[in-house]
Amino acid sequence: MERLFRPESVAVIGASTDPGKIGHRVVANIVSGGYGGRVYPINPKGGEILGHTMYPSVEAVDGPIDVALVSIPAAGVLPVVEACGRKGVGHLIVLTSGFSEVGEIEAEREIVRAAKEAGVRILGPNVFGIYSAASSLDATFGPGGIVPGRVAIITQSGALGIAMIGKTASESLGLSALVSVGNKSDVDESDVLEYLIDDEQTSVVLLYIEGVKGGERLVRMLSRVTQRKPVVVIKSGRSKRGAMAAASHTGSLAGADAVFDDLMRQCGVLRAVSVQEAFDWVRYLASAPQPADGDAVIVTNGGGIGVLATDACEEYGVRLYDDQGILAEAFEDVMPAFGSSKNPVDLTGQATADDYAKALDAVLEEDRMHAAIALYCETATADAERFETLVRDVYARYRESKPIVFSLFGGESIAQVIRTLRGEGVPVFGDVYEAVSPLGALYRARRSTRRRAKIEGRSEEPEVDVESIRGILDEAGSQDRGFLLAHEAAQVAEILGLSMPASRVARSLDDAVEAAGQIGYPVVMKVVSKDVVHKSDAGGVALDLDNEEEVVDAYQAILRRVRAHKPDAVIEGVEVAEMIRSGVETIVGARRDPAFGPVMMFGLGGIYVEVMKDVAFRAAPIGSETAKELVASIRSYPLLLGVRGESRKDTDAVAHALVRLSQLISRCPRISDIEINPLVVYDQGEGVRAVDVRILFDPQRG
Ligand code: COA
Repeated sequence: MERLFRPESVAVIGASTDPGKIGHRVVANIVSGGYGGRVYPINPKGGEILGHTMYPSVEAVDGPIDVALVSIPAAGVLPVVEACGRKGVGHLIVLTSGFSEVGEIEAEREIVRAAKEAGVRILGPNVFGIYSAASSLDATFGPGGIVPGRVAIITQSGALGIAMIGKTASESLGLSALVSVGNKSDVDESDVLEYLIDDEQTSVVLLYIEGVKGGERLVRMLSRVTQRKPVVVIKSGRSKRGAMAAASHTGSLAGADAVFDDLMRQCGVLRAVSVQEAFDWVRYLASAPQPADGDAVIVTNGGGIGVLATDACEEYGVRLYDDQGILAEAFEDVMPAFGSSKNPVDLTGQATADDYAKALDAVLEEDRMHAAIALYCETATADAERFETLVRDVYARYRESKPIVFSLFGGESIAQVIRTLRGEGVPVFGDVYEAVSPLGALYRARRSTRRRAKIEGRSEEPEVDVESIRGILDEAGSQDRGFLLAHEAAQVAEILGLSMPASRVARSLDDAVEAAGQIGYPVVMKVVSKDVVHKSDAGGVALDLDNEEEVVDAYQAILRRVRAHKPDAVIEGVEVAEMIRSGVETIVGARRDPAFGPVMMFGLGGIYVEVMKDVAFRAAPIGSETAKELVASIRSYPLLLGVRGESRKDTDAVAHALVRLSQLISRCPRISDIEINPLVVYDQGEGVRAVDVRILFDPQRG
């Protein structure tokens, strides 16, 4: 990767003297971007381009080539890849479209195969190139004019990426790198992220994703990057229609959005909704200092926007400083008669620019206040020009020591001030929510790094005996079954440390009575018959049987009702099982996600999962802290904490079950789905009971 981002020589295959062609544009950007290495334009016609001699082929170049860009039609790419292999080129950047994104999967495989055989890495195909500030290399066919800086952008969308170049330049957002990953036939986001972890020039990463390929590695890589620098992601396909559009656009599967969202949070990645929001965040994250702690103060000259900012703080997770005594003391000298020193600190419309400046100084000099949100409404008493100087001055003095955001609200003169100051890199916004949002991102990134550092320090649970479970799967697989029968699933549950209801199949009335006596009352009874799918509908279930008499009656009633319901049903017997006492019903699941590999799921049972879709996900394997976090992340979590006098439920036992299940799915690749539904949770200290365990697996895999 070092060779891709810091090449000493770059070739452009398909360089053209025709200014309308992409092969011309790339050479023009390399030259005008100030690249200091050697440039080799390749075109069999020879001649010259922008002061550089054209070479007829890569093999005609006398000296090594680190990176070769390919800008010729798809049909000619394979021989060029082979020639680059012979030449020993390090990286190929294939700009050409017309491969897997339009269904030409085999053609893409061929070029990847040829490149791999020769030890050449491929970025693309279907990309717009790469920018690397480390080498002043703009090897893209974008509009040029990239401002060097500290933000790295990785994008799967070409058109959006090119448009981002223009937008970053117009917003003076400085880039350390910009990489278009396109079809990701070889180099993908994870490879680029791995490079960026140690790249000193990059302090924030912005990732635009349409579809996830190799999600397991992506999750691992993102977790590593976010330990060192914040990552912001925009993923299209949030809506169902959007997901369908994204899937057809890129030819890769857009992972279910809810899973994506939770897994990003797990890795400490901040997810932005729009490109504008993402830009505001990365720009702020790249320049703002780390806050000493979480207490922000709002200073305003208008009560209304102060309240709006308070709402925005709640929405974006910014805590407000609350010590009324200290606040009153800090603003004593600047507070006009009708003002309020409560946070938001309202100086009212009477405040002069000087009062305002003093109030901001008071916040920024006070160690107990950790960030400032400065709001200003245009008034008759303070003119915009004076305010522009004030903001510039305050920002220059405190930008290194405390996070500050400004929101200015008013007419054209204020709009002009905002444009000027933004151009200078000052975090000024027109809207209060827009101003608070990047500060919220800064705090979320900080909290997540701390939280994960804590999680990583913890010891893990004891290992599950996966070997014995493999034996059970082997046995079932030898019968050509891809699922476990109830008694096999019960064995697995036992190995996982989960207790299932004791049960036995009775073949006669006496047998049923004996079984109930052994198991202990109360018991439930269920018909056992392959011909009866919906046991309750057939009258094949009896609950809460308290004594021998009730068992006798229920046994006879079950047989009678089932025979009436389905006269030809073969009845193998009646299952007598321990009646599980009621508790909170939850669902615990693990499945192999097509995009992310093993993923854990947790939710409350019944309407919560069916109607409210109140479930949360984490990439497996997980440790106990992550499992507790997973449990706590569902909306109905308060029900487990105990509401209206109910006592707290045993969430530790749920977390324990999740950890063990996550070990199983991670270490047994042939298992595709495990679901415990319901897992009944009792009061704290009383544990959980698994009522039904279903396991699906691929019998062909070992
Ligand atoms: N080696 C070197 N040069 C070669 C060559 C070879 N093997 N084969 C052809 N060339 C030359 C051509 O002669 C031409 O030069 P010229 O202008 O002097 O005649 C130049 O390379 C380009 O070839 P051309 O056939 O004119 O192609 P093009 O420029 O019209 O289109 C692509 C090439 C790659 C731009 C086009 O196929 C394509 O894929 N466009 C979409 C790009 C895109 O959107 N990518 C994704 C962005 S996110």
